[in-house]
Amino acid sequence: MQTQKIILGISGGIAAYKTPELVRRLKRRGAEVQVVMTRSAGEFVTPTTLQAVSGKPVRSNLWDADAEAAMGHIELARWADLVLIAPATAEIMSRLAAGGAPDLLTTLCLATEAPVVMAPAMNHVMWSNPAVQENRQKLERRGVRILGPAVGDQACGESGPGRMLEPDDIVAAVMKPIAVATAKPGSMDGKTVMITAGPTREAIDSVRYLSNRSSGKMGYALAAAARDAGANVILVSGPVSLTTPDGVTRIDIESAKELFAAVHDNLEGVQIFIGAAAVADYHAASASAGKIKKTAGEMSLDLVKTPDILASVARLSDRPFTVGFAAETENLREYALGKLEKKNLNMIVANLVGPGLGFETDRNAVDVYWRDGEMSFPLTDKEELASALVELIASNYEQTLHAETQTELPVIAVRD
Ligand code: C5P
Repeated sequence: MQTQKIILGISGGIAAYKTPELVRRLKRRGAEVQVVMTRSAGEFVTPTTLQAVSGKPVRSNLWDADAEAAMGHIELARWADLVLIAPATAEIMSRLAAGGAPDLLTTLCLATEAPVVMAPAMNHVMWSNPAVQENRQKLERRGVRILGPAVGDQACGESGPGRMLEPDDIVAAVMKPIAVATAKPGSMDGKTVMITAGPTREAIDSVRYLSNRSSGKMGYALAAAARDAGANVILVSGPVSLTTPDGVTRIDIESAKELFAAVHDNLEGVQIFIGAAAVADYHAASASAGKIKKTAGEMSLDLVKTPDILASVARLSDRPFTVGFAAETENLREYALGKLEKKNLNMIVANLVGPGLGFETDRNAVDVYWRDGEMSFPLTDKEELASALVELIASNYEQTLHAETQTELPVIAVRD
């Protein structure tokens, strides 16, 4: 998947306090962000904060010899796929409309061939001033895209048009649509991928069981997407009412115990393991052979933990590249990162579940985390999402292989 390289220019308005969050959100959507601040932006937000969230030293001075030696301003202007100025003050709009280049940010805007997008933020009377509106029109005529401003309460206590758009809205407006991230044919060529999908059923007696609302749609969509990307796919499936994608080998299971056995019996040669099944966490301590009769007014059921299939795969010494799922109702990021660590995973795909979210639906929105990165995918059809996930998994898998061949002895531990 191609990373979008963004220069985020911050000029000196109070809305600059929202830019660390904007950087985080752009990065979560997979962008690489280089922050460039004007001198007055530093009155509202510190370069230290922006360096920490962007992971890159902040540029602000055209005359900084060290920074220029690392990447000169012309090189930086060429590097960018997009220059985003947020917040854009009346002053920066005026400088750019006049074609001036008194500082690094304006110089970059003149020197880049990338699209320039601005999110203005200023007092509503300033925004309505004919001089500002003339500058806006001039900039728009030259192809600069102006986002907002929004109407509402302002930091000065007044109300009207002039608020910077919220970070989420700016991200939605500037990031490429998810369709560009679909799996390339061949990105999993020759790989063997095992995917678990659907719910498990844990018997209580001969006619009853414990289960969950998983439809298996996400796992099945991943299986089809991995196959389209060239993989040989083994789908280990709980009971679902879905048809097996053509060309995919399906193994049916019912309980978590059966899932554990089916996975480990067929793991030979698997290079990528994706645990998308909603495995029951507990099974009945002892399932009755016949049907339990309703005699007592109350009854209790002793439950025992099921084996954690995903963690057991990730613990193997010659483990495949292991990807887990986390369905949560709250604290998505914190819980997902905890599972990534605790279960020793390479990647985790996390989604919120609840009414209309995740389970039993055709669409899903997920956040994906790995050791040194994360990416958010907005609400999308599961097929399209699966394709994007397969592409992300394939590229992370290749990077891991590459890193291991560079640091390890020639014979590497990844299955091949
Ligand atoms: O711990 P939690 O159930 O939230 O973890 C979810 C992830 O772990 C999913 O990828 C799921 O397929 C996997 N899992 C498993 N075996 C279990 C429980 C969860 O493989 N017993």
